[in-house]
Amino acid sequence: MRTLETERLILKEYKEDYAEGLYKYASNPNVGPRAGWKPHESVEESLKIIRELFMPVSAWAIFLKETGDLIGTIALEHDRFRPYARSKELGYSLAYDYWGKGYMTEAARKVIEFAFNELELQIMCICTSTVNTRSQRIIEKCGFKLEGVIRMAYQIYDGSLRDSMEFSMTKEEWETNKGNQK
Ligand SMILES: CC(C)(COP(=O)(O)OP(=O)(O)OC[C@H]1O[C@@H](n2cnc3c(N)ncnc32)[C@H](O)[C@@H]1OP(=O)(O)O)[C@@H](O)C(=O)NCCC(=O)NCCS
Repeated sequence: MRTLETERLILKEYKEDYAEGLYKYASNPNVGPRAGWKPHESVEESLKIIRELFMPVSAWAIFLKETGDLIGTIALEHDRFRPYARSKELGYSLAYDYWGKGYMTEAARKVIEFAFNELELQIMCICTSTVNTRSQRIIEKCGFKLEGVIRMAYQIYDGSLRDSMEFSMTKEEWETNKGNQK
C-alpha cells in the first residue's frame, strides 16, 4: 500500500514499529470511547491491535510533517453490507491534542481520492454513532450522504448500545462534488 501525502500530513502503512506512537494517543480516555473502543492499556495491546486489526486491512498511521509525530490512524475496512460491490468502509481516530485543526478532514479526503482513483472502488461507506458529532462533521465535509440510522445497532466496550448513522458516497457523487467541498 502506498504512502500518501497531503499539505500537512504523511500517511504511512501501519507496521509494528508504530505501537508506541499508537499507544501514546489511544490510551487517552477522550479518544476511544467516542468511537466505542476501550482506551489502550499497554503498548502490547496497541501492538496486538496493529497486528490483528490494522495490518490485515488498508490502515495508515498519520504523521504530522512538521514534527514527525504519529497523530492518528485512518483505515479502509471490509464493507459488511455490500459483498458484491467494490466498496470499503472508512474509519479513523486522532490524538486528542490535535482535534479542531482539520487534520482528519485532510487525511480522509486524501484516502477517499486514493480509494476511488487507485483502488477503483464504486462506493465507500462510513458509520458513526448519533452522539459522535465531530465525526459527523468530517463525514459531511467529505460529501457522504446519510442512508439511515440503525437503532441499537452495536454494543460498545462498556456493554451499552449505540445507534449507528450509516453514510455512503458513490464514485460518481465524489467526482461531481469534489470541487465544491467546504
Ligand atoms: C472524529 C475525530 C477524528 C474528529 O477530529 P476533529 O479534529 O474534530 O476533526 P477535523 O480534524 O476535521 O477538524 C475539524 C475542525 O477543525 C477546525 N479546523 C481548523 N483548521 C481547519 C482546517 N484547515 N480545515 C478544516 N477544519 C479546520 C474546524 O473548526 C473544524 O470543525 P468544524 O468543521 O465543525 O468547523 C476526533 O474527534 C476523534 O479522533 N475522535 C475519537 C475517535 C472517533 O470518534 N473516530 C470516528 C469513529 S466514526
